[in-house]
Amino acid sequence: MKAIGIVGSPRKNGNTEIMTKHTLRAIEEEGIETELITLAGLNIQPCNACNACANKETCPIDDDVFSIYQRMKAADAIILASPVYYGSATSLIKALMERTGHMGRSQGRIWSGKVGGPLVVARRAGQNFTFAQLTLWFQILGFFIPGSTYWNVAIGREKGEVEKDEEGLRTAWNFGKNVAFLVKKLKT
Ligand SMILES: Cc1cc2nc3c(=O)[nH]c(=O)nc-3n(C[C@H](O)[C@H](O)[C@H](O)COP(=O)(O)O)c2cc1C
Repeated sequence: MKAIGIVGSPRKNGNTEIMTKHTLRAIEEEGIETELITLAGLNIQPCNACNACANKETCPIDDDVFSIYQRMKAADAIILASPVYYGSATSLIKALMERTGHMGRSQGRIWSGKVGGPLVVARRAGQNFTFAQLTLWFQILGFFIPGSTYWNVAIGREKGEVEKDEEGLRTAWNFGKNVAFLVKKLKT
């Protein structure tokens, strides 16, 4: 059993990464293997609508997406985490969602039945909209999305500030526990 957390911030060691690691620790505690993937510094291009993936599990865009896609495919749970940029998820994570979502859908609903959900951090506003954006990806692809004790959103601006948001981190932790619970229920 494996869960992966994908951090869609272009900034390494930032608040989104801290929040995601926190969630992964809660999952790991339940005996599930975890992996953190940070998109910062990677080459992640948007979908160009060529539809090559409609017939074959491939993507002609030569960047870092295909290897991430394969790791996502092998996981039982996927967490997509993004900071809010101008009221929205980052273009970095959005590009990954377009590409992997499309590739997977053309392969016979490979995401269906996996567990997943979003994590969001912002300085002040836009968390719920971004949370909904990410949730829509999980929904259309047939993931099971566990809840928590609040929406999985937190507050922080400068690197590390999210550590002060005790409720935000607690929500992320409880979400991780529910992810682990559901993965175990589905796999055993
Ligand atoms: C380009 C850009 C746009 C941003 N837009 C918003 C915004 O719309 N709302 C908000 O509350 N914070 C906004 N922020 C602040 C980030 O969401 C915040 O600093 C967050 O903690 C960054 O996460 P990270 O440390 O994982 O990179 C923005 C930051 C940047 C760089």
